[in-house]
Amino acid sequence: MFVLTENNSVANHFLSELRDQQIQLDSMRFRRNLERLGEIFAYEISKTLSFQKTEVSTQLGVKKTYKLSQEVVLVTILRAGLPLHQGLLNYFDKAENAFIGAYRGKHDDKEAFEIEMDYITSPDIHDKVLIISDPMLATGKSIEKAYHAMLRYGIPAKTHIVSAIASQRGVRFIQARLPQCRLWVGDVDDEMNSKSYIVPGLGDAGDLAFGGK
Ligand code: URA
Repeated sequence: MFVLTENNSVANHFLSELRDQQIQLDSMRFRRNLERLGEIFAYEISKTLSFQKTEVSTQLGVKKTYKLSQEVVLVTILRAGLPLHQGLLNYFDKAENAFIGAYRGKHDDKEAFEIEMDYITSPDIHDKVLIISDPMLATGKSIEKAYHAMLRYGIPAKTHIVSAIASQRGVRFIQARLPQCRLWVGDVDDEMNSKSYIVPGLGDAGDLAFGGK
């Protein structure tokens, strides 16, 4: 697992602003900070991808250089995932995109829930690099479900899972259930409350980015 806060970088500043309940009042800044984290994750993930030698003609000569030689598919879970997804797309600008609509379904036990998916659109993902993003990795159930739903569209060469903030339990769940996937998180928090919100976390990422409650 790669954890942004284990490195000394401006990502810590963006995460700090995302968590700060005063700064969160500015939803445009909240979305932009998630997008900036997406850009940083894209850069870090790009170091694991394949590049092929090429040549470019400048105005003054020819330079041997490199270009990305793998196809990338970005997938996110609506709606909270959109800003992080946009940040990834800013760097992987030729990536294809998949979107999943998911929500917390009702359960007999009022505090428990099942993840229901009601919408999915995806290109073929066979042999491509799949990057699944969700800003909050709480229980890990929606990401696990999203991953399995994506397998209907092919077997990816490699899958990366990206979250701004994860819970300890969510990290353990993903590592146990999806050991074939590489996990990239901004920070890991110790706890979750009875509604499966990460504590201290940042609150409801979807509402903070797009309004609600
Ligand atoms: N989704 C959120 O938006 N926040 C959490 O803490 C957990 C899931």
